[in-house]
Order: sequence, then structure tokens, then C-alpha cells
Amino acid sequence: MADIAGFKCAGIIGGGQMGAGIAQVFATYGIKTILVDINPKQIETAKTTINGSLEKLASKAVISLEQKSAGLSNISYASDLNSLKDCDIVIEAIIESERIKTELFQSLDKIVKPSCILASNTSSIPITRLAAATSRPDKFIGMHFMNPVPLMKLVEIIPGIATSEDTTKQILDLATGLGKETSRSADYPGFVVNRILMPMINEAFNALMEGVATAEDIDKGMKLGTNQPMGPLTLADFVGLDTCYAILKVLHEGMGDPRYAPSPLLAKYVEAGWYGRKTKRGVYKY
Ligand code: CAA
Ligand code: NAD
Repeated sequence: MADIAGFKCAGIIGGGQMGAGIAQVFATYGIKTILVDINPKQIETAKTTINGSLEKLASKAVISLEQKSAGLSNISYASDLNSLKDCDIVIEAIIESERIKTELFQSLDKIVKPSCILASNTSSIPITRLAAATSRPDKFIGMHFMNPVPLMKLVEIIPGIATSEDTTKQILDLATGLGKETSRSADYPGFVVNRILMPMINEAFNALMEGVATAEDIDKGMKLGTNQPMGPLTLADFVGLDTCYAILKVLHEGMGDPRYAPSPLLAKYVEAGWYGRKTKRGVYKY
């Protein structure tokens, strides 16, 4: 079994779109990977997603056949956190809720070995606060992958105030060893990417709410007018409207500035359970 920057075994918690993608990348690079989700249905969905993605990437020669078989053979699936006790790193990618993440890290901290690094893929929740819930804030860091993980180059690296420089260096080396580019951000609300991306998405919802244009015209305007791969409303559906809403609430609370207040229309979609692609309905129907 391979290692990258000394990491031989990785645990990923949360088998949704991000966790499945992160597990896939680790496994493709030869790391023993354990993917944990509390929802057995989601484990089945993650397996299907990972197998389909590996198949597609191999058929397009984006990954080699060896990487494809590594991706298939290096992942095991579990529902119990105890299966992560021998991991060198655990990356949390569960829903964007500070309370639920904090509870998870408190339990995890008691299970994994003292040398294990804990990382969160949170989009916005302060790393320093999550780290403070554990006995190892020096070994705690934000490792923010972008969606879809197997295709997107960037991992944003966010040390908390107590993260050691050693931990940060190891994680920068790990991300590079996984074929990613890194950018470093201080631990302020939304870090860099979402501090800038989410206000754009929010403004698209406000424009839609005010009847400035249809969803299609807003997306077409931004996609073709500013050369983005997806318009902001399509991207919001892709990210998950529940996640966008949670991020905006963190930005709004953390910055204390009304300009980050989530659009009432975005709030309404989330209240209706229209989370985007993952629920087959968001701004658009899928
Ligand atoms: N694995 C393998 N293949 C995948 C895939 C995956 N996980 N996801 C998509 N693909 C495939 C598609 O199926 C498609 O395959 P075919 O050509 O065989 O149909 C192929 O990739 C290319 O897709 P498309 O032709 O539909 O579109 P594209 O060329 O534009 O690429 C994309 C797709 C990379 C998703 C591109 O649309 C894109 O870059 N979109 C923006 C993504 C983005 O901004 N991500 C960041 C979101 S913000 C974030 O992640 C942070 C946060 O905290 C919220
Ligand atoms: P998702 O809703 O697709 O998946 C979340 C998964 O977590 C679900 O499978 C759920 O069953 C599982 N889960 C919930 N509580 C759990 C627990 N206590 N233990 C184990 N599993 C649990 O969400 P996602 O889009 O994959 O986002 C996950 C995280 O990644 C969030 O923090 C989000 O902000 C962040 N993120 C999302 C994106 C994106 O574009 N969606 C991009 C970067 C980062």
C-alpha cells in the first residue's frame, strides 16, 4: 500500500457528493480509504457514484487503468466511527452544521490514535471553533475540496489559530501528492472561495426574486457574459441550496454585515426541501 507524505490510511466521514469524491481521489492514489456514513442508503449511492466516476474517467484516459482498479480496491465502507481507529488522517464531509460537526469531532477525537490529523471539508464554519472541540487543535485543519472533487484542481487549506505549522505543511504536501493545487486561507468566515462565490450566488437569487430576469437569462448572462462554466443558479443547484444557505448564514453572522444576508428566495427554496440536483428540484427540475 502506498503512502503520501506519510499518510497510509485515510478515513472520510460523510458519503454525500463531497465525501464520495474525496474518498475516490485518495483511493485512486493508492491510499487505504475507509468511507463512513450513518445512512446505509447513502453508502450504496456513494458506491454507485464512485464506480461510475472511475469508469468515466478511465474511459476518457483522465486516469489510468491502474488508478481505476486502485480506486475500486482501496475503498471500504462502514457505518461505525470505530472503523477509523487506525487512520493517519480523517476528513469530515458531513452536512454543513456546526452543532453536528462539533459532536462528531468530540466522538472521533476519543477513537483515533493521538498522531491522527483531523480535517474538515467545511465550506465556511470556523476551523478554530471545530478544533477547540477536540484535544488536538494543533493537529486540526480545514481541507476544503471543490465540487466535483475528482475534476476540480483546487484544495483550499485553512489552518486554525492553534494548528501547528507541521500539520499545515503535511497537509499541503498531502494535497499536492493527490494531484491537487493548493491555496492557503486564514480562518475567517467563508475563507476565500466562498466569501467571494456565495455573494454572487446570493445576488443571483435576489435578481430572480425581484423579477430582473428569468433563471435561464441570469445563468446565460453570467455563463456567456463572464465565461464561467455554469451560471450561478445552476451552480447553486449543483452545490446544494441547503449548503449555500448554511454558508451564507455563517458569512452573515461571522461578518455582521447585512450584505451577506441570505436571499429570502433561497431561504424559501430550502424550506420547501428544494435542495437542487440532489433532491431533483432546486431552481431547476432534474
Ligand atoms: N467524475 C467523473 N466525471 C464527471 C464528474 C465526476 N465526479 N462530474 C462530472 N463529470 C463528467 C460529466 O459527466 C461529463 O461527462 P461527459 O462529457 O461524458 O458527458 C464531463 O465530466 C464534462 O461535463 P460537462 O460536459 O457537463 O461539463 P463541463 O465540461 O462544463 O465540466 C464541470 C463539468 C467540471 C462540473 C464544470 O461544469 C465546472 O467546472 N463547473 C463549475 C464547478 C465549480 O465551480 N465548482 C466549485 C463549486 S464551489 C465549491 O465546491 C466550494 C463550496 O464549498 C461550495
Ligand atoms: P451531502 O448532503 O451531499 O452529504 C452529506 C452526507 O453526510 C450525507 O451522506 C449524510 O448521510 C452524511 N452525514 C450526516 N451526518 C453524519 C454523521 N453524523 N456521520 C456520518 N455521516 C453523516 O453534502 P455535501 O455536499 O457532500 O457537503 C458535505 C460537506 O462538504 C459540507 O460541510 C459542505 O459545506 C462541504 N462542501 C460542499 C461542497 C459542495 O459543492 N456541495 C463543496 C465543498 C465543501
